Amino acid sequence: MDENKDVGFKKGLEGIIAGDSKVCLVDGTGGRLYYRGYAIKDLAENCSFEEVAYLLLYQKLPTVKELKEFRKKLAARRSLPKHVVKVIKDMPSATNPAEVLRTGASSLGSGIADASKLTAEGQTDHGIALIAAFPVISAYFYRLSHGLKIVKPDKKLGHAENYLYMLRGTVPDAEEARALDMDMVLHAEHSFNASTFAVRITISTLSDMYSALTTGVGVLKGPLHGGAATAVAEMLKEVGSVSNVDKYVSDTLARHGKIMGVGHRVYRTYDPRAVILKNEARRLSEKKHDTRWFEIADRIEGRMLAEKGLHTNVDFYSSIVYGNLGLEPGLYSDIFAIARTAGWAAHALEQYGDNRLIRPLDNYIGQVDLPFVPIKDRK
Ligand code: COA
Repeated sequence: MDENKDVGFKKGLEGIIAGDSKVCLVDGTGGRLYYRGYAIKDLAENCSFEEVAYLLLYQKLPTVKELKEFRKKLAARRSLPKHVVKVIKDMPSATNPAEVLRTGASSLGSGIADASKLTAEGQTDHGIALIAAFPVISAYFYRLSHGLKIVKPDKKLGHAENYLYMLRGTVPDAEEARALDMDMVLHAEHSFNASTFAVRITISTLSDMYSALTTGVGVLKGPLHGGAATAVAEMLKEVGSVSNVDKYVSDTLARHGKIMGVGHRVYRTYDPRAVILKNEARRLSEKKHDTRWFEIADRIEGRMLAEKGLHTNVDFYSSIVYGNLGLEPGLYSDIFAIARTAGWAAHALEQYGDNRLIRPLDNYIGQVDLPFVPIKDRK
């Protein structure tokens, strides 16, 4: 117990640096975000998800040839083993889609050799298999749970494009595919957030990539993390119109409730991803001649800034982007997880590359030296 006395801690590990990393910089006071040194705006505007996944995994932007090969590799890994398809088919249709993703990731890893014996290349390969499989698992369950026939992946389509295709059964137009693609770039990585840290903890025991990403999905699905976009959609529906916003916000704050999609542990200013997604949400809503949800969201954003000085985060306007793509709120944490596989795999590789078991201390506040009472005498 005494060994912990001199070690400071903060609830929720706020402000605690938990390790070195070269994957991503989140500048919480400057509102800047970099993946492997590249500004998020440049990546969002110019790169596909596959390019960014390559950057995260291989620590450099791909050449045309490298990207072509990487796309081919990803597309080839889209076909799921039979036992994984069976697991998805056996899930009750009312299951939360993120739970199916979690179970699918786990089942994909059954029978895989001990990762600690693999080379970095072998581990990267497993990361690629998971990046490729996530959208397929998600789309298969979506179709089955809606009483629809599954749509097999199309190797010719890009990552986001193929996901939309498998969900809908028709190839999306280029603009829709690009909107989801950009959203996935924005969600691909974000330093030592809760799910990524959990991934790194799993790897630090020399467990395997599949176990690590299974852990990642389990952590991400909570409403304080990747589940927030679904909660935002539900909130917008509950608010219903711009005229209800002020009362909704003040009532929620008065009972110390949370406005979903607002606030962040690291950003003390705007979240640069939210700025990009807001523009995209506005553009898509105007194109559809339905700006109702955008206007409600915009008003909530303004009220939260005025009342609490809190900014919106990545999950706020992404829910409007997804809504404009005709995607159901139940899928929103899946989309986040599908994109984040790239960041998780990159962090797993980094952790393997310079590993030490992650094992923090706790600040014990319980009792000691209690008199032991034999079971027959206990009341
Ligand atoms: N709505 C209302 N108040 C909020 C808030 C929100 N979304 N986020 C933070 N706050 C307030 C808290 O009530 C608290 O106020 P107080 O000091 O007056 O009590 C203060 O801001 C600090 O909040 P706290 O929950 O301790 O911050 P955190 O760093 O632990 O939490 C989040 C960060 C992201 C978990 C938090 O902002 C949140 O729950 N947001 C909503 C969920 C969400 O959008 N998650 C996705 C994150 S990408």
